[in-house]
Amino acid sequence: MGLNSRATYLVALWTSHLFLLTAGHSRVNPRIITAPKGERHFLLDKHETLTTLYHEEGNSSLLVGAEGKLYYFDFESSSNHTEDFPAHDTEACQKPEEKKNYLTFIGKYNDMLLLCGTNACKPTCWNLADRNKVGEAAQGLAPFVPNQNSLVLVDGKDIYSTIGLHQHNGKIPRFRQVRGTGELYTSDTVMQNPKFVKATVIKQDERHDDKIYYFFQEDNPDKSPEAPLNVSRVAQLCKGDKGGTSSLSASKWTTFLKATLVCVNPATKGNFDLLQDVFIVPSDKNWRETRVYGLFSNSWGYSAVCVYTIGDIDTVFRTSKLKGYTKDMPHIRPGQCPWGRNHTPPETFKIADLHPAVEEKVQPVAPRNSPLFHNKNRYQKIGVHRIQARDGHTYNVLYLVTDKGYIHKIVEMPHGVLNILEIQPFQQPAPILAMTLDHRRAKLYVSSPSEVVQLPMDMCEVYHRSCESCVMAKDPYCGWADGKCVSVKANLTMLQNLTLESSPEICPHSSFKQQEADSLESYRNVTVALFSRYFLYCPTESHAATYKWHHNGSCIQNCSTHWPCFHFIENVTHDRYGRYTCISEENGFSQTLVREWLLKQPKPSQTLRWRSQAAATSPSFWLGFLQMMALALLFQ
Ligand SMILES: *[C@@H]1O[C@H](CO)[C@@H](O)[C@H](O)[C@H]1NC(C)=O
Ligand SMILES: *[C@@H]1O[C@H](CO)[C@@H](O)[C@H](O)[C@H]1NC(C)=O
Ligand SMILES: *[C@@H]1O[C@H](CO)[C@@H](O)[C@H](O)[C@H]1NC(C)=O
Ligand SMILES: *[C@@H]1O[C@H](CO)[C@@H](O)[C@H](O)[C@H]1NC(C)=O
Ligand SMILES: *[C@@H]1O[C@H](CO)[C@@H](O)[C@H](O)[C@H]1NC(C)=O
Ligand SMILES: *[C@@H]1O[C@H](CO)[C@@H](O)[C@H](O)[C@H]1NC(C)=O
Ligand SMILES: *[C@@H]1O[C@H](CO)[C@@H](O)[C@H](O)[C@H]1NC(C)=O
Ligand SMILES: *[C@@H]1O[C@H](CO)[C@@H](O)[C@H](O)[C@H]1NC(C)=O
Ligand SMILES: *[C@@H]1O[C@H](CO)[C@@H](O)[C@H](O)[C@H]1NC(C)=O
Repeated sequence: MGLNSRATYLVALWTSHLFLLTAGHSRVNPRIITAPKGERHFLLDKHETLTTLYHEEGNSSLLVGAEGKLYYFDFESSSNHTEDFPAHDTEACQKPEEKKNYLTFIGKYNDMLLLCGTNACKPTCWNLADRNKVGEAAQGLAPFVPNQNSLVLVDGKDIYSTIGLHQHNGKIPRFRQVRGTGELYTSDTVMQNPKFVKATVIKQDERHDDKIYYFFQEDNPDKSPEAPLNVSRVAQLCKGDKGGTSSLSASKWTTFLKATLVCVNPATKGNFDLLQDVFIVPSDKNWRETRVYGLFSNSWGYSAVCVYTIGDIDTVFRTSKLKGYTKDMPHIRPGQCPWGRNHTPPETFKIADLHPAVEEKVQPVAPRNSPLFHNKNRYQKIGVHRIQARDGHTYNVLYLVTDKGYIHKIVEMPHGVLNILEIQPFQQPAPILAMTLDHRRAKLYVSSPSEVVQLPMDMCEVYHRSCESCVMAKDPYCGWADGKCVSVKANLTMLQNLTLESSPEICPHSSFKQQEADSLESYRNVTVALFSRYFLYCPTESHAATYKWHHNGSCIQNCSTHWPCFHFIENVTHDRYGRYTCISEENGFSQTLVREWLLKQPKPSQTLRWRSQAAATSPSFWLGFLQMMALALLFQ
């Protein structure tokens, strides 16, 4: 027994190593789909390092700003054209790579479609409707050279931006109003080395209370050794801010306040300090219910999504004490929006300018008050779409872009989230430079350095195989009707069950049987000799997760206590064949990590031939082969 179990353990470790090598990411996610059906794509003329997407809801076309070029693509009619916007005069730049016109902004302003670019260190905007006209100088709308820290926000007649107005001075980043009633900028002391992420305007109950919120990370003023280096913040500004009353403060925002966004894993107390992206989901009922999806990372590059409401943010700014300020609050509180023609009183501004941070932090929404989920992916961008499923409920579906160029489609359910699909939008893996969503048409647009793709959000084709695969995908866009997996858009009576614990029993019996045969493709086929031994290894990734082995759909082993998580079959008898899955669960985030189908070995020679055929197309063929040979040598 002693010897036996030690040998078992060694082999388990060794095979696990092989498994990890052969696994790639295919095992870590439930279903992977490359360039799915229904996807349409256009190629770019050259390799682009920067792309700016412009898309209007409900419109089938997309504008792509790139270096010296504007692309126009219509995904319905397949019409496409390009227009050149070269930089003519390049004397203002020193570095050769700067002597180009990077188009960094496309947006509607004053009934014009504005296109702005660096224009070789002379920022310029063009009116797209009137292309003969020469461009106009556009400091604040486009940077002098491409800059990650550039945000531009258009709201009616007003434009806000984080772009510097001068090429060489003004190195301290500011948030400005650059078009509209007046020019305003933030005091240089209110932010430390900010990295801007997103800005938005939220209309409140009273017009004078309308606010701009912007999200950023900055150096943590708390320099104690246990404090994180960086903090993520939300700042508020009143749209009706008229600047200060003195000549020194006349062009400064007087309603600035900032608060820390908390995104902490409650189990480990691990902080996700670095805000990467923000997506705003407006509420049609009440501005307070507007949801802010914050995508954060930590210093290991792991990610978390925390959700906040504008109502909670507003409450923190209205009620919290100011950090470092202990005296009584003035009659007009810092951050309070001025009425009518009034300015913020000088004493109020003085306090706010010296104490711009509020003490209270913004916590993620109930019921969890913690991340919606976290995992080891390095996500870079987030998009959220709301979809009404057949049960009448509206589900939030998250589209998260990984650093490897994949999109994870994650559904928010009442008791957790489910990663339902990993999409590789391009033929070859490539970084995703930009992403935008069309909520009305339920499409996703992504660009790589060489390609632009339109993806339907309701890719139900992916689960076409059977009722079980369609229903168990738990994709709120899809249901089973008339023997097909169809989009909820079709308005048919369909089978759908969007609960974490739902089972395929709702499918008609015949369809379930058919699925058993059909879904073999999603399993790794392994032929095993009768009465031999076999190891099933599950790659465990997180100590906060639970791992379970299922056989033919029922739980046979819990791995919460012993590591690594393998299931050892001492003697492969007839009833031990069949489907094995390893399912991980963490904070309600459930994934199938391994799918193996143990098949009886007909005759040794036949098996080898079959295996090499099956594996011939797979890059992991040799590792798989080695592993099989090793197991065969050890156990036969
Ligand atoms: C779609 O957008 C393009 C480019 O902005 C515009 O020319 C076209 O008129 C729009 N089509 C519709 C139907 O709005
Ligand atoms: C782009 O337009 C040209 C005609 O201008 C057409 O030949 C080509 O097929 C279009 N490209 C795509 C991907 O539809
Ligand atoms: C985090 O803070 C450090 C020092 O305060 C700063 O050097 C660094 O740039 C910041 N990192 C990010 C990603 O902002
Ligand atoms: C969906 O079908 C129902 C009846 O089956 C009908 O009352 C409803 O108007 C349809 N909705 C749409 C959007 O077509
Ligand atoms: C979905 O499945 C769950 C668990 O199996 C069950 O309790 C629930 O009634 C089902 N809902 C529908 C609409 O079928
Ligand atoms: C597993 O074997 C079955 C035949 O028994 C085949 O239909 C299926 O495609 C195989 N799956 C894979 C992933 O090779
Ligand atoms: C496996 O089980 C079969 C049937 O129960 C038995 O005949 C055989 O001896 C077992 N083999 C081993 C190695 O225990
Ligand atoms: C594993 O734990 C679950 C409850 O968490 C239980 O339902 C199941 O029966 C257990 N399985 C085994 C094989 O112990
Ligand atoms: C599991 O399914 C396989 C067929 O796929 C069958 O041979 C085996 O007996 C089943 N075992 C159990 C325990 O249900």
